[in-house]
Amino acid sequence: MELIRLDRFIANQTEYSRRDVRILIKKGNVRVNGEIIKNSDVKIDANKDDVSVNGENLCYKKHVYIMLNKPSGYVCSTKDGISPTVLDLIPDEIKNVHRGIFPAGRLDKDSEGFVFLTNDGALSHRILSPKRHIPKYYIVKLYKPFQKNYIKQFDEGLVLKTGEHCLSARIDGYENYNNYAFIELYEGKYHQIKRMFASVENHVEYLFRTQLGGLMMHDRLGIGEHLIMLHKDVENLIKKSDFFTSKENSRNFFRHIK
Ligand code: URA
Repeated sequence: MELIRLDRFIANQTEYSRRDVRILIKKGNVRVNGEIIKNSDVKIDANKDDVSVNGENLCYKKHVYIMLNKPSGYVCSTKDGISPTVLDLIPDEIKNVHRGIFPAGRLDKDSEGFVFLTNDGALSHRILSPKRHIPKYYIVKLYKPFQKNYIKQFDEGLVLKTGEHCLSARIDGYENYNNYAFIELYEGKYHQIKRMFASVENHVEYLFRTQLGGLMMHDRLGIGEHLIMLHKDVENLIKKSDFFTSKENSRNFFRHIK
């Protein structure tokens, strides 16, 4: 049996906030198995109980999509013998109802920002497949100031110190923030951005992921916080995005950055 609080279940499955749901429940607009329930604390079995809101039956959605603002110190895997994982930041209530959640893509243990978690293997495959060309966007804090000539070097495709070739990547600096850069990446080699900057004799001090495809992380999501995404918003992951718009939007994240 996978029990979840009634208010959380409805908020997860609809566009209503947890607060809206509590009001609906109080007003008697929610039924469980045909019976009006006026108590938000009631726990239901998402796989068995029929829940309706304003007379409409909620179809239980098996897949869950989570936006997480990952803190430093957590690893992007489901299990790790030593360090805490991003799954440790997701409440049991969600993990008990939606089995098999995993991070779709990786950020290094010391990197922060947008991590997308789901139990939808097909979607994860779609967004991670190199053939799909879903870009990822990062703010990078550098040891030495950003150089204008990086733009051309990154665009032409860098060769890492190991001899590996990188695909073309777009990069730009920020006015008044000399040691920061914004980068768009279409691949995900091990420690790629750190190694890209090492190849131009600079050093990455801090990395923050702001966006995946056309989906920007919610800028009001504090470090370590998550939100359950609406199924319709997930589509933005595979939408096109414009580099300079994404860069402008990334400024909202500077308040999170160390
Ligand atoms: N590149 C890196 O070097 N680290 C990350 O976490 C992501 C991209």
